[in-house]
Amino acid sequence: MAQLWQGRFSKAVDPRVNDFNSSIRFDQRMIMQDIRGSLAHSAMLGRQGIISKEDAEAIAEGLKQIRADLTEGRLEIDPNAEDVHTFIEQTLTARIGDAGKRLHTGRSRNDQVALDIRLTLKDECQVIKEDILALAEALSRQAAKNIHSVMPGYTHLQRAQPVTFGHQLMTYVWMLLRDCDRLNDAVERMMQDCPLGSGALAGTTYPLDRDFTAAELGFAGPCPNSIDGVSDRDFCIELASVFAICQMHLSRLCEEVIFWCSWEFKFIELDDAFTTGSSIMPQKKNPDVAELVRGKTGRVYGDLMTLLTMMKGISLAYDKDMQEDKEAMWDAIDTLHLGLTTLAPMVDTMKSLPENMRMAAAKGFINATDCADYLTKKGMPFRDAYKLTGSLVAECIAQDRVLEDLSLEEYRAHSELFDEDIFTAIDLTVCCEGRKTWGGPTASNVEKQIELATEKIAALRG
Ligand code: ARG
Repeated sequence: MAQLWQGRFSKAVDPRVNDFNSSIRFDQRMIMQDIRGSLAHSAMLGRQGIISKEDAEAIAEGLKQIRADLTEGRLEIDPNAEDVHTFIEQTLTARIGDAGKRLHTGRSRNDQVALDIRLTLKDECQVIKEDILALAEALSRQAAKNIHSVMPGYTHLQRAQPVTFGHQLMTYVWMLLRDCDRLNDAVERMMQDCPLGSGALAGTTYPLDRDFTAAELGFAGPCPNSIDGVSDRDFCIELASVFAICQMHLSRLCEEVIFWCSWEFKFIELDDAFTTGSSIMPQKKNPDVAELVRGKTGRVYGDLMTLLTMMKGISLAYDKDMQEDKEAMWDAIDTLHLGLTTLAPMVDTMKSLPENMRMAAAKGFINATDCADYLTKKGMPFRDAYKLTGSLVAECIAQDRVLEDLSLEEYRAHSELFDEDIFTAIDLTVCCEGRKTWGGPTASNVEKQIELATEKIAALRG
């Protein structure tokens, strides 16, 4: 396939340069969006009388036929084409003749590619959004089954205070819903300004109707500065940041899954279908899915760094460096998509083991704060109650006992304020249910947040 820009050159491009320069390998992913953009552009050219109505119709027909042929497998993308834009224009021209050569009137590949990547990212973000919401739903379902499963909540990975497994899982749901909000915001901003009509950088002498094409293609309006229209990829960087944050959230969830299913914790059992074995150790059941998602986080961060670095030193307007945007974006999207869609069924099928969670909760002095609060509520200043409870804990540790094992006499040896009701006050379920502040671990509050999250998911689906 010949280049679109052959006229000026006296010799053919070195084949190594051709290969190096070509982007068809990865920009063919935008082929449907490229056709959509060309349909809007040619319709506008026809309406404005820049090309004849007949040519505009022939172009539209030709493009639609190419689209159908691609969808139904009758047309193959030529791997030797320079890029997707060249492939479509040349295929069109081969089919409809001179009208095809008029498609590119008043347009440059610079505004064309700036448009195509926006349209493609918009479509692909819709899929990512669905993936995120599906995982949020799986986590909410698992949380609903575990609103009474008391487990130790941790800080510094040290047992800290009692929570429930449902409470803990909902944390990730809120993270994911913020990711979804961020995604929507970024897509909305990306779809503010349509770059089409910017031309190479300085607009064109043809009387284009940029409002028409912007509206046709789902933008709020045309970009007000043609140089800006073709120069920036900040929307890619913003989306890649959203993906990186989301992947970070997934990685944290995976890290927890990995230790929850270890023998040291055994808070959950992953379904056999979502684990793998070892080639040498017959007893092994490994959380490979979670480890891989965690491991792939570096790729997504790397994609963001690629984009930031790609943009940091290039002059206005278009520079070929920017061709690198696509592979980074596709990699981030594919990695995130793969992780999200594998994690959702893994979360759905995992089995929680509430007895083990409770056993761990019983061992970590996670009711020590409640013991101190008990004394505080009976009139002792909190700082004194804190110190006294600390000495009770030290005594228990020395004797390999827990607070529940001490007798009332032993308690009263420390303070006369202790009564029989101390044992209720430090009961783990009571400790959980006592934390009635909104957002806390009580079953009814967690149920309420599940309802809220469900409403938010429905609203995000719109
Ligand atoms: N393949 C190019 C890219 O992805 C298309 C734009 C080419 N523009 C140019 N002036 N060479 O950025």
